Amino acid sequence: MRMGKMHFSTAIITFAILAGATARLFEIPEVVEAVESARHTLSAYFSYDGPTGAAAAFLASVTGKIKIPNLDLTYQAVSDPPYWLADISHQGYAPYSANPATYKVFRSVKDYGAIGDGVADDTAAINRAISDGGRFGPASRQSSTTTPAIVYFPAGTYLINSSIIDYYYTQLIGNPNSPAVIKATSNFTGLGLVDGDQYQNDGQQGWISTNVFYRQIRNLVFDLTAIPPSSAATGIHWPSAQATSIQNVVIRMTQDTGSQHQGLFIENGSGGLISDLTITGGLYGANLGNQQYTIRNLTISNAITGISQIWDWGWTYQGLTISNCTTALSISNGGSNAQLVGSVIVIDSTISGCPVFVNTSWTTNSLPPVAGSLVLENIQLNNVPVAVQGPNGTVLAGSSGSTTVAAWGQGHQYNPSGPTTFQGPLTAAQRPSGLVVGGSSRYYTKSKPQYESLPATSFISIRRAGAKGDGSTDDTSIIQSALIQSAALGGIVFFDFGIYRITDTLYVPPGSRVVGESYPVILASGNLWSDIQKPYPVVQVGRGADAGTVEWSDIVIGTQGSTPGAVLIEWNLAASVGAGMWEVHTRIGGFTGSNLQVSQCPISAPVSSTCEAAYMSMHITRTATNVYLENCWFWTADHDLDNASNLQISIYTGRGLLVEGNNIWLYGTAVEHHSLYQYQFANAQNILAGFVQTETPYYQPNPDVKHSPYPTNATLNDPDYSSCVSGNCDALAMRIVNGTNTLIYGAGFYSFFNNYNVTCSNYKGPENCQSDIFRIEGNTNRLWVYALSTVGSENMVVVNGNSVARSSDNINVFPATIARFTYNV
Ligand SMILES: *[C@@H]1O[C@H](CO)[C@@H](O)[C@H](O)[C@H]1NC(C)=O
Ligand SMILES: *[C@@H]1O[C@H](CO)[C@@H](O)[C@H](O)[C@H]1NC(C)=O
Ligand SMILES: *[C@@H]1O[C@H](CO)[C@@H](O)[C@H](O)[C@H]1NC(C)=O
Ligand SMILES: *[C@@H]1O[C@H](CO)[C@@H](O)[C@H](O)[C@H]1NC(C)=O
Ligand SMILES: *[C@@H]1O[C@H](CO)[C@@H](O)[C@H](O)[C@H]1NC(C)=O
Ligand SMILES: *[C@@H]1O[C@H](CO)[C@@H](O)[C@H](O)[C@H]1NC(C)=O
Ligand SMILES: *[C@@H]1O[C@H](CO)[C@@H](O)[C@H](O)[C@H]1NC(C)=O
Ligand SMILES: *[C@@H]1O[C@H](CO)[C@@H](O)[C@H](O)[C@H]1NC(C)=O
Ligand SMILES: *[C@@H]1O[C@H](CO)[C@@H](O)[C@H](O)[C@H]1NC(C)=O
Ligand SMILES: *[C@@H]1O[C@H](CO)[C@@H](O)[C@H](O)[C@H]1NC(C)=O
Ligand SMILES: *[C@@H]1O[C@H](CO)[C@@H](O)[C@H](O)[C@H]1NC(C)=O
Repeated sequence: MRMGKMHFSTAIITFAILAGATARLFEIPEVVEAVESARHTLSAYFSYDGPTGAAAAFLASVTGKIKIPNLDLTYQAVSDPPYWLADISHQGYAPYSANPATYKVFRSVKDYGAIGDGVADDTAAINRAISDGGRFGPASRQSSTTTPAIVYFPAGTYLINSSIIDYYYTQLIGNPNSPAVIKATSNFTGLGLVDGDQYQNDGQQGWISTNVFYRQIRNLVFDLTAIPPSSAATGIHWPSAQATSIQNVVIRMTQDTGSQHQGLFIENGSGGLISDLTITGGLYGANLGNQQYTIRNLTISNAITGISQIWDWGWTYQGLTISNCTTALSISNGGSNAQLVGSVIVIDSTISGCPVFVNTSWTTNSLPPVAGSLVLENIQLNNVPVAVQGPNGTVLAGSSGSTTVAAWGQGHQYNPSGPTTFQGPLTAAQRPSGLVVGGSSRYYTKSKPQYESLPATSFISIRRAGAKGDGSTDDTSIIQSALIQSAALGGIVFFDFGIYRITDTLYVPPGSRVVGESYPVILASGNLWSDIQKPYPVVQVGRGADAGTVEWSDIVIGTQGSTPGAVLIEWNLAASVGAGMWEVHTRIGGFTGSNLQVSQCPISAPVSSTCEAAYMSMHITRTATNVYLENCWFWTADHDLDNASNLQISIYTGRGLLVEGNNIWLYGTAVEHHSLYQYQFANAQNILAGFVQTETPYYQPNPDVKHSPYPTNATLNDPDYSSCVSGNCDALAMRIVNGTNTLIYGAGFYSFFNNYNVTCSNYKGPENCQSDIFRIEGNTNRLWVYALSTVGSENMVVVNGNSVARSSDNINVFPATIARFTYNV
């Protein structure tokens, strides 16, 4: 059986590679098994097409007689309070859409006929608002950067009887001052009130789940309570990858006995971040499987199982509040002989009124050996009799009163030698005071600002200021003036959607607040970035001795053509707590306007300056303090998003994220395909990072890291690649040199390819795509790494040139995993 599946998967891998499609198309045997298993046990959710069986009979019997429980509309007609994003003039410009003059970036569902009175069926109108303008839906199976949209829901109750079908590059946004309610009718059909990746007639999702990028849902309430409890209904179906978010959303499900509803359903993908989500009722508050994810501030009450973990490699939960359930978090899927959940971290969370907090299948001899790795830190339990339940009973008791779990875990640990297998209490990481909320033990967090209380007049539109955003006009000076003027006035710079070509650095002064409309692009182009030996910033946040604050959200920074000297973001600001970036992404190549697409940079082309496109994605320099990054993806494109076949490309960039400052939060960040390293922390202090995810370049070893077109630079403390441990010397996922107080809550460092061949990362294969991937060097102190997973690297951790952990000793569901690694703590 098992071998059969493996062969089948291998065939898929081969096919994908021969077809030359995106490398991410390959299927990973364990993932396929896990998802198939979820599909089998949860078939009602996959095929859900409305009430069937008993639920349908019940509906038929009551039609016209009584009201379905909760159908009674509890939503009064509401006025729509002001919200700047709705009120501001809408002049986003999509220069590469088929009809830029008429293409609407911002669309209100009411302009497409939605009524929002809780009586009329608004399904068709909402779906028209999404699809209008030649956009890319799941049936097209295409990604696209040319047709962005914000689909706006004014306050109201929108009745729907089938799914809202999400499209590529789409943000579904309500009014934060009065979030619209999307209410399902009792006879609703479809997999999710929002279906983020609709299954097509061939039984496959529209988009490959690991390629679902650039989309949001925020400020909305989803109400499933009219759907009979016995129908397997889903709130949001959200297979998702990087640069996606759900924020400030409520999902309401029936609380009746026997509920079969699930609030959030993710069966696969490579995410991602979700925050500020509140779910009530249901069988599963959330039912989740993905390679890796960060979920922050999730509240679930009155669900039977709070979170059902279908599968994962790693998952970081921070700020869970789960109450009144049976099991708060089940990670036992697959059972002890074939666990499907690789690793889970839960921190800063409160569980109340649930008989069991975590249900696990892990034992000292469960399989795969380190699957079910678990770390709990700073957990408050109120009336939770069993904190952790294993297959043989309670492994960590709770109580009927209040209990605090300071730190507890299971899996393999290295301190820094190992592995030792452990299950039990841990010494908690020492949290630097600068990273926690004053007077509390919780780490500081800050959700993406939405400026909901400010009027539209506080915003300075850069298109109104005269910038064109057409991908060719030089918009540098107009944008620079708007930034200076806005900071002086205390305003907010609004980047209407556009492709803003600039030819010199944009300086962002202290006091700036900058927000984009559906990920507009700042595109660096020209000679100032042409020297591979002279790094030059594209966007510079603070300079010299600048101090103050900057908030920046929802923008993409890219480059055009050969720009090997470009440092896309340079952050120098000595900031107060609260400064940062939310959903600011670098995207280097792979999109229309970049001149770094399939036609310029096919994988068959030899290395040349034409496709050398960034010196570094982001540099947090030594003057920077208090930098908060949330949901930022620094991506050297491995494929062309605007090529219908998503053909692979080879784009060469030097470095990913270099941190030299102190007091840094990195929540849900990912850095991919840079030629020297993805993350480097050099002489940095007080870093909190989780989940961090990386991939090394697919073109390795042609060239390998020693032959990268980017010469190493001692001034920037580039790693010394002459000291690689034996094997393939390739780009690093992370290097920490002279670090003090580095706390990593979840890491996934992946190397899938050698010479575009995945054999080296096959499960239980050689894991030898490269020799080392994570280095710790110099005078590094107080380093904690929880749930470190690697793929394709022979060694998991190399300390001062010596391997201290090998992947073959730590085999998990697909990656290798160490539950807890510490160094000089
Ligand atoms: C949903 O409602 C619309 C408008 O009333 C109707 O035309 C359509 O058939 C309904 N669809 C389903 C699946 O019930
Ligand atoms: C579906 O439910 C709505 C109200 O919830 C009702 O108006 C409509 O007639 C129903 N449609 C069918 C086909 O039963
Ligand atoms: C995700 O799961 C679906 C359902 O099993 C499957 O069709 C698809 O191939 C999976 N995709 C990935 C990338 O694993
Ligand atoms: C969590 O989310 C809720 C709902 O959006 C919000 O009111 C609350 O302030 C958030 N808490 C934190 C710590 O972000
Ligand atoms: C949990 O249940 C208790 C007892 O029934 C109730 O008082 C409390 O309000 C419930 N909590 C939530 C968040 O629903
Ligand atoms: C734990 O999970 C297993 C497998 O899903 C299930 O059979 C068992 O009942 C669960 N235990 C509890 C206490 O929820
Ligand atoms: C738990 O039970 C399984 C078999 O049911 C056994 O293999 C295992 O050793 C037991 N004990 C522990 C501590 O895991
Ligand atoms: C090395 O970095 C310094 C500081 O950013 C820069 O001035 C110099 O040009 C860089 N040299 C090379 C070879 O990249
Ligand atoms: C994708 O790029 C290839 C190579 O340039 C080209 O032949 C093909 O037509 C493109 N596909 C589409 C659908 O644009
Ligand atoms: C991939 O690498 C393996 C191991 O080196 C080799 O056996 C196989 O032929 C390679 N596959 C391709 C398509 O080159
Ligand atoms: C790290 O610290 C050591 C000892 O203090 C010093 O020799 C070395 O130059 C430092 N390395 C870097 C990259 O700053």
